Amino acid sequence: MKKVSATVISNEQLWGEYGVGGTRKYLGTWLMRLKCPNIASEARPGQFVMVYCGEECLLPRPFSIHQVDEDGITLFYAVLVGGKGTNWLSQRYMGGTVKLFGPLGNGFSIQPRSNNLLLVAGGNGIAPLQFLAQKALKKKLSVTMLYGTVDSKRYPVSSQLELVSATEDGTVGYQGMITDLLPDSADRADQIFACGPVGMYQAMARMPELKNKSVQVSLEVMMGCGRGVCYGCTVKTKQGLKLCCQDGPVFELDNIIWDDIV
Ligand SMILES: Cc1cc2nc3c(=O)[nH]c(=O)nc-3n(C[C@H](O)[C@H](O)[C@H](O)COP(=O)(O)OP(=O)(O)OC[C@H]3O[C@@H](n4cnc5c(N)ncnc54)[C@H](O)[C@@H]3O)c2cc1C
Ligand code: FES
Repeated sequence: MKKVSATVISNEQLWGEYGVGGTRKYLGTWLMRLKCPNIASEARPGQFVMVYCGEECLLPRPFSIHQVDEDGITLFYAVLVGGKGTNWLSQRYMGGTVKLFGPLGNGFSIQPRSNNLLLVAGGNGIAPLQFLAQKALKKKLSVTMLYGTVDSKRYPVSSQLELVSATEDGTVGYQGMITDLLPDSADRADQIFACGPVGMYQAMARMPELKNKSVQVSLEVMMGCGRGVCYGCTVKTKQGLKLCCQDGPVFELDNIIWDDIV
């Protein structure tokens, strides 16, 4: 884990209208590249960083590592309505600096015998899955991504993977929820990796087609410290209470007690 003051290489708004994702309301989605080679060289897919977001935010904010390159990392973030940290982040400009630490947490793990990976992204849940896809494609694994969004505003994923799209308004691909397509796609997957709202995970946990599969999900809960000190990110699992920041944020789907998560 490294604590750094990273130079902003770029901070670009991808789209900017008001939207709703799960329980959160947001004003737009941004992509920020940060120069931090020390964090990039240690980072594994599914891990996150804690970012200090200006004087008004006492606590740092967690963000998944979306992509890495030799120079640093990229964050894919939604600016929340009334969100002090994400609004501050969206006002950083090229050449400015942002303090952060990471990489943190337990990320996704690809089993050595897995060849066919199925990635399920619900909205901004594309954030950690892009890095996982990047790693898996480098290993020449077959990657299919089910990507569901509200409408046609969506991140342009790599053309090297097989993409299956769904939109709630029907403007791209299947009209409906991305989880509607999951039972049919799960069969040929050796492993499934997902990131999205809790409602998506609750729907997945009820699917009989996923019962005997290895399904890893990245869980987002409110975090205080990001490193096991405050106990603010406790999650109920079948093995007792776990800390999302240290034991997660990636957990096996069938290990979480979903009824207790909102
Ligand atoms: C491990 C992890 C990885 C994450 N990765 C990403 C990412 O890659 N991209 C991204 O856009 N966001 C990500 N998030 C969520 C991100 O941390 C929050 O959106 C951010 O902290 C909001 O900060 P803020 O100061 O703008 O909003 P705040 O002022 O803290 O909150 C604004 C409003 O949003 C609500 N809120 C804030 N965070 C959450 C949450 N986690 N769940 C439910 N409601 C919340 C608050 O209750 C409040 O009503 C991640 C969270 C975790 C735990
Ligand atoms: S965020 Fe403090 S213990 Fe997990």
